Amino acid sequence: MTVGITMANLLGARAVACASTGNTSASLASYAAQLGLPCIVFLPAAHVARGKLAQSLAYGATTIQIEGDFDDAMRLVEQVCNELGIYLLNSLNPFRIEGQKAIGFELLQQLDWQAPDWLVLPAGNLGNTSAIGKAFRQAYQLGLIAHVPRVAAIQASGANPFYRAFMHGFSHRERVQAQTIATAIKIGDPVSYTRARKVIEESNGVVEEVSDEEILAAKTLIDRSGIGCEPASAATVAGARKLVERGIIKHDERVAGILTGNLLKDSQTGIPQHQHGKAIAASIEAVKKAIANEISL
Ligand SMILES: Cc1ncc(COP(=O)(O)O)c(C=O)c1O
Repeated sequence: MTVGITMANLLGARAVACASTGNTSASLASYAAQLGLPCIVFLPAAHVARGKLAQSLAYGATTIQIEGDFDDAMRLVEQVCNELGIYLLNSLNPFRIEGQKAIGFELLQQLDWQAPDWLVLPAGNLGNTSAIGKAFRQAYQLGLIAHVPRVAAIQASGANPFYRAFMHGFSHRERVQAQTIATAIKIGDPVSYTRARKVIEESNGVVEEVSDEEILAAKTLIDRSGIGCEPASAATVAGARKLVERGIIKHDERVAGILTGNLLKDSQTGIPQHQHGKAIAASIEAVKKAIANEISL
């Protein structure tokens, strides 16, 4: 987003906008605030996790909640940007993709330029898949890595247009009515489809789908390991697990997986809430009983 907002500034944009499932808008709202530029974010009403919405509101963005899904918000923001001359900063903006390549370069740098065999990541609007794949391609062309990692893009099974297209060899594009608990990837008609398709084809990659149950099970695993993530990110681990089970990822292969979103972005979904609000008496007996209920020492 820092590359995108820099270009907006250079081009003399009067205002910036995006449609978002919550994270892009939080990021754009932050950078626009730093630049003092009016920012308008389009969100699907009631489908954005509170932690993300809080960021856009706190950073002072004009927050327009659409009665519809992300795809409705995307369609409307494109139209309004064209008609009102507002600078659009979704990942269909090429400067966003150029900036997002940094994720791929940093990943390779952290692995000391020893490219992994696989890169696994969640896939919604397909900006990350496009950008990171492009970074890998360029790193290879520059001779920074010896091979291009295979890219595995993981979709929620209720929001799987890219997976469906992959399954018939990308013979035609698919659109779905998206439905999943992983709101960040709840997208039925991804804007970066063509670029992401190129990445999957060129890297000999795969597209996999995982159910909401598989996402939640993977999230529990990630949370209990002390790292934590938001639901969409857990698709990475759920997908990697499935690809290993199916023998597509081999046991001796090196796999890098990306956790795209912090746990606090969505503090509700998939997190045990049963202790919430349950106060106990301020006595040592009550405390010991509460502990005994949870763990045996
Ligand atoms: C946390 C998180 N994970 C994954 C994605 C999916 O990335 P993309 O839309 O680039 O496919 C997003 C997109 O907003 C996201 O916020």
